[in-house]
Amino acid sequence: MANIFAVTNQKGGVGKTTTCVNLAASLVATKRKVLLIDLDPQGNATMGSGVDKYSCEVSVCDLLLGEASFDEVVRKTDPAGYDILPANAELTSAEVHLLQQGNGGLSLKTALSENQSKYDFILIDCPPSLNMLTVNALTAARGVIIPVQCEYYALEGLSSLIQTIEQISESINPDLQVEGLLRTMFDPRNSLTRDVSAQLTEHFGDKVYNTVIPRNVRLAEAPSHGLPVLAYDEKSKGSLAYLALAGELTRKNKKKKVTA
Ligand SMILES: Nc1ncnc2c1ncn2[C@@H]1O[C@H](COP(=O)(O)OP(=O)(O)O)[C@@H](O)[C@H]1O
Ligand SMILES: [Mg+2]
Repeated sequence: MANIFAVTNQKGGVGKTTTCVNLAASLVATKRKVLLIDLDPQGNATMGSGVDKYSCEVSVCDLLLGEASFDEVVRKTDPAGYDILPANAELTSAEVHLLQQGNGGLSLKTALSENQSKYDFILIDCPPSLNMLTVNALTAARGVIIPVQCEYYALEGLSSLIQTIEQISESINPDLQVEGLLRTMFDPRNSLTRDVSAQLTEHFGDKVYNTVIPRNVRLAEAPSHGLPVLAYDEKSKGSLAYLALAGELTRKNKKKKVTA
């Protein structure tokens, strides 16, 4: 069984996609086999991985609707080296179809069942809402990684997210847990950042990762080249931070590597 993590926060612009792409690349750099699932119709993780969302004839949408197989949809990223299930605007229509199906929340879990054993880690990049696509991610996942930008309203949405996670773990997916909260775009010189960070630790204790992701311009530039920061500027602070996160995640989730 792969470690399947949904990277979720219904707030937009908190660093979900940046975390998915760069954590995936960093886990590959530590010799893990990784699948990244783009579950956001914006397709930012797809483009940021160097896959052109406009030229994908099949995408994760077709997989969720049972119209294409895993092998038909999966692509290898280059040079990062992880596999990706790409997404584009078509995924919006999948959301509507899944809502109409009685068991539409199980679609991703079912699609992964035969393929997850090929991977050490599977990361799911969620859309910025608690919709049917996010429910699919939380149903398939074992853990939730919550990127949090340490700013004034950061804590506000967290309680409804935690509630949703609890509802899903009490009903359809008892294995689901919060894997960790990740402080992103961190600026230690800013007193608000320090205050919100202290509140997070107070509320969530050791669920808050020790690793913080600094605000780093290289992280913001890399996606326009279709690259993870590790391939764009491997010595940048952003690159080192995501490598550290990969280390922290791996230590927390010790598991035998997939061989062959
Ligand atoms: N640590 C960071 N430092 C600088 N810019 C960042 C950082 N993390 C994310 N960004 C930028 O902030 C914006 C939002 O990040 P993104 O990962 O797309 O958020 P989300 O997926 O949650 O909407 C993007 O333009 C991204 O390049
Ligand atoms: Mg995103």
